[in-house]
This record gives sequence, structure tokens and C-alpha cells, in this order.
Amino acid sequence: MKIIGIVGSLRKDSLHRKVFNQYKELAKEHFELIDGEIAEFPMYDGEHDDHPAVVTLAEQIRSADGVIFFSPEYNYSIPGSLKNALDALSRQNPQPFAGKPAAIVGASPGNAGTARMQYHLRQVGVFLDLHIMNKPEVMISGAFSKLQDDVIVDEQTVEFLGLHAKSFAEFVRRF
Ligand code: FNR
Repeated sequence: MKIIGIVGSLRKDSLHRKVFNQYKELAKEHFELIDGEIAEFPMYDGEHDDHPAVVTLAEQIRSADGVIFFSPEYNYSIPGSLKNALDALSRQNPQPFAGKPAAIVGASPGNAGTARMQYHLRQVGVFLDLHIMNKPEVMISGAFSKLQDDVIVDEQTVEFLGLHAKSFAEFVRRF
């Protein structure tokens, strides 16, 4: 099973890039997690539908079994980088997300664990015709206190991420 992971943060020291790397290892027995890169996406202006970064990721998504978003919450919503990528991909033909199973993984230093971003992303997912897994939801709170040397060390959280990967693999099999 091949799953595309899209990291919503472009920051060099991104927490979500670290969570993506760790999740990839934890998920290994269930599926292969492939990095779906959005860093080179141009800002959507309707003139770059043939940009190689956009075309490549669209094709990767079409041929994958599902998608997982690893995304921070920026100002109570979806980071512009991720929203821009979704907008660009939504104009590709055929629309790559249509009918795909998906999941969301988020972490924040505060208590909300990206909950507000996740519900905005779920709304966008309706138009994209994504089937976003409802449960379990991954909203890691107090993330920096659970991190050591770029890896989450909090045992409960690590166990939960493994369980999420297993649940997502079962969810994807239903499609
Ligand atoms: C944040 N942060 C943040 N956190 C949160 O829980 N809710 C929010 O609305 C915001 N808003 C916000 C806006 C902007 C522009 C930045 C840069 C940050 C804090 C955020 O959770 C924290 O910086 C994480 O490290 C972001 O994830 P990445 O980018 O490190 O993966």
C-alpha cells in the first residue's frame, strides 16, 4: 500500500516534518509513506497548471492508495502553503483527490493540537471529494515537551501514532 504524506509546513525546522519522519517509520508495517512535496509549488494564479511540481504530485496522488496531511495550524486555520497546494492540485485534470481516502495528523505547542485547522481542512476536503477518516483523530498537544532530538518520546503519543497508521490502513482497504 502506498500513501502520499503532505507536510503543510515549509519551515526548515518544522515540527510536522519531524512527525512525518517518525510516522513513516511507525507505519512501515502497514504502508509505505511517500513524501508529497509542495515546497516548489508556485502561488496559484491560473497560469502554472503545467508546473512540474504540481503535475508530479498530482500524478503521485492519483496512483497512490491514500493521502495523509501532516499540518500545523496557522492563525486557527490551514497554512497558506498547504491551501495553495490544494488549490493548485484541485485544478489538475483529473482532479487527483477525487474519491481518495485521507487522514490528518497535527501537533501544536498549545492545547488545541491543530483541531481548528483540521476542521477547516475537512471542509475543503468535502469539495475535493476526499474521504477523510473520522477516527482516530491525531491532535498532539504540548508537542514540544514531548519532543527530544527531533523525535516524539512520549510513549502514549508514539503508541497512538502507530495505532493511527494501523487504523488508516484498515480504512484504506475498505475503498
Ligand atoms: C503558529 N502557531 C500556532 N499554533 C496553534 O496552535 N494555533 C495557531 O493558530 C497558530 N498560529 C501560528 C501562526 C503562524 C504563522 C506560526 C508560524 C505559528 C504555532 C505553531 O503551532 C508552531 O509554530 C508549530 O511549530 C508549527 O508547526 P511547524 O511549522 O513547525 O511544522
